[in-house]
Amino acid sequence: MDYPIWDLAMGGGLLMAIVAIPHVIVAHFAVGGGLLIAVTETLAVRRDDPALRELARRSSLVLILVSTVFGAISGVGIWVVAGLISPGAISALIHTYVWGWALEWVFFVLEIVAALVYYATWDKISKGAHLLVGWLYFVGAYMSLVVINGIITFMLTPGRWLETHAFWDGFFNPTYIPSTLLRTGIAILMATVFMVFAALKTPEDRRASVLRYLGWWLAGGVIVSYAGYRWWEAVLPETVLALFRGAAPSLASLAATRHFVLWALAVTLVVGVLILILMPKLTRAATAVVLALAAFAFFGGYERLREGTRKPFLIHSHLFSNGLLVSDIETINAEGVASWSGWVARGDADPVSFGRRIFKTECSSCHTLDGYQGIRGVMPSFAEVLAVAADDPPGSGERVFQAECAACHADLSFAEMREVLPSPDEINGDPEMIYDLNVGMVSATIAGLRAMGADYAAADRDRMINTAAMDYPYMPPFVGTEKEADMLGQYLATLIPQKGGE
Ligand code: HEC
Ligand code: HEC
Repeated sequence: MDYPIWDLAMGGGLLMAIVAIPHVIVAHFAVGGGLLIAVTETLAVRRDDPALRELARRSSLVLILVSTVFGAISGVGIWVVAGLISPGAISALIHTYVWGWALEWVFFVLEIVAALVYYATWDKISKGAHLLVGWLYFVGAYMSLVVINGIITFMLTPGRWLETHAFWDGFFNPTYIPSTLLRTGIAILMATVFMVFAALKTPEDRRASVLRYLGWWLAGGVIVSYAGYRWWEAVLPETVLALFRGAAPSLASLAATRHFVLWALAVTLVVGVLILILMPKLTRAATAVVLALAAFAFFGGYERLREGTRKPFLIHSHLFSNGLLVSDIETINAEGVASWSGWVARGDADPVSFGRRIFKTECSSCHTLDGYQGIRGVMPSFAEVLAVAADDPPGSGERVFQAECAACHADLSFAEMREVLPSPDEINGDPEMIYDLNVGMVSATIAGLRAMGADYAAADRDRMINTAAMDYPYMPPFVGTEKEADMLGQYLATLIPQKGGE
């Protein structure tokens, strides 16, 4: 709250995704690659199998050397972006986890040194020594996952940490072990699909057996991932599950993501088993592409689900995504957000500019103006109200109602809504009235968001807060005085689409 805001038109979340997605993919390459290459080279030496050894060598350029170097560079990028878009969260994570980061760094050094040595010493040192370096690389890479996963999972399910604020309580949180298993499976999947490309270059007489060997890895990776995923879901608290499971999930898009995740995993398994294990001779580059896409879809879908289920928090029940601490709600409501945030306090005092700065501080971590989760789009507009009232062609009104009104009007059916709405002629004849109605809805929503603060403040802070019971389960409360709420409303009113466009 008290840090300046980086005013980014595309939205900080999107920029973070752009930097983080390649990093996370490559990081899992590096971990899975470590395991597969170490095992493959070990088997090659034991069985004196040049084809397997060649597979390990060929894969090591990308899976070990490039992954490690790119992982290091993009990892720094994540810190820069995170520090700029969520300074409050970075501060909280450093305060809690400074020794975790130190540990991470130690394993990272081991990983990088081993990667460089491993890649540079093929055929230059004894086979045994080279194997040892490979296994050391794997230990470094895997341990870096083991450590960072404690921090990532803590953000979603802080567990007993909320009560004790003790390092190990946060680290070994409820989703830690399932998620480590799941990520191990993902790392195996990622490395395997990459190695299928490398395996296509194996000489004809050995290609089928090498591909079948990778098929078993793929099947194993799917089983470990599936077990980890189901376990992860099983230990999630009700409040998180309510967002995407059950008859009426509060974020329908997340429920859809979950289906997508499980289907992508099923496709990976079916293609992998059918082609790689049963008919390896049929494997072509296209097969490898399909496998890679399915595995990426599973992985990407899961990451989206995990990020989405944390809404509206960065650290569940402790810190909201906009940097607001649960423990500060009451004080800010009493003293005003301007007395907390230098960013809000400085600048023009007129209500609209003031409201705009409040929007930047409290809302822009999730809402852009017109882009990703654009605020203009989620506010009611003249055209939408008219479309609901007119219902022309029949059925279209209900669709608009479900898409644009139902989130705030869950207590009304489409038919009930039409009863309270003026007729299309009245609406067209008096657009000012509709504008006023829409402005009223927005300020009533802000008042609702503000009232939600009391529920958070009253919640038992020693355990995870049940966000499903909140009026807006995916948003933080509005904090500030009533006057500030009013100024935010005045600013948002300037954005509401009126008759004839703006
Ligand atoms: C943690 C992220 C987050 C923050 C911070 C946030 N919102 Fe939202 N908001 C959402 C999500 C998610 C939706 C649902 C969007 C959708 O359905 O497409 C939403 C929807 C809305 C809606 C439409 C009503 C609805 O429930 O669909 C309004 C109005 C709104 N937000 C206003 C605000 C205001 C004002 C602020 C700042 C005080 C704010 N939001 C802060 C995530 C957030
Ligand atoms: C951002 C949330 C939000 C959205 C989106 C929204 N409304 Fe509302 N609306 C409200 C709130 C809050 C009220 C005030 C309810 C109250 O005070 O009882 C309200 C009141 C109304 C009223 C006044 C009658 C009443 O029930 O009190 C009408 C009519 C209405 N909305 C129609 C619509 C229509 C049609 C849509 C979709 C085009 C829509 N609203 C979308 C939040 C919203």
